[in-house]
Amino acid sequence: MKKLIAGNWKMNGSMENARALIANIINRLETDEDVLKKCDILVCPPFLHIPAVRHAIYGFPELRFGAQDCSAYENGAHTGDVSASMLRDSSCSYVIVGHSERRQYQGESDATVAQKAAQALKNDMVPIICVGETEEEREKGLAQEIVDAQLAGSIPALEPFHDIVVIAYEPVWAIGTGKTASVDDVAEMHGFIREQLDGKVPAPEKVRILYGGSMKPENAGELLSTENVDGGLIGGASLSAESFLAIARAAG
Ligand code: PGA
Repeated sequence: MKKLIAGNWKMNGSMENARALIANIINRLETDEDVLKKCDILVCPPFLHIPAVRHAIYGFPELRFGAQDCSAYENGAHTGDVSASMLRDSSCSYVIVGHSERRQYQGESDATVAQKAAQALKNDMVPIICVGETEEEREKGLAQEIVDAQLAGSIPALEPFHDIVVIAYEPVWAIGTGKTASVDDVAEMHGFIREQLDGKVPAPEKVRILYGGSMKPENAGELLSTENVDGGLIGGASLSAESFLAIARAAG
């Protein structure tokens, strides 16, 4: 399966930064097109920067872009929210849902995440459904139990043709901390997630399971060659074209 290298820019940078970053990524890809043969590349800018990224990517359709969140609702009185149909209207093809920062700071429940994922699918976008345990939960030996419950609650009931959800396993304690899960832990959790997808999605073997949490050029090769790791969700290291594409190169 072709790996997916996804950049989550989070709430960083100005419009000018976003334009410069996407221009830099495109420049580098133009001189190193092999990267795109090895993996699919996706960037998820902040909502307001999506039109600028869309404009820059025009004529470079291999590079995909998406959003970091969408509303759980279709439309109407939801002040401040952005609907999945608005994102689709802006040509987004992916949307991250249930990132641990949203679960933690916006109090998003599994049920809300499932509604968001369903909205994404309904609007022909691929939801990247994030799951992951906290450090305390891992220390108590509860990592698999927590992830299993999140998967069960966050994956919406899928139609047979909806076989393209993406799962991102992001241990909360590894996000933005410089700490990475060990290759053995990642292999174990990704294998577990693949097993748990049985019965929850029409074709578990087709689902890409990304690893996220302090992925950088130095550890990407090892992580991306681990069994059942079908790509990466990259935060900090996606804010530099050089490190983001070094990670993508490591996917080959
Ligand atoms: P990080 O973030 O790469 O900065 O750890 C990953 C994420 O939150 O998606």
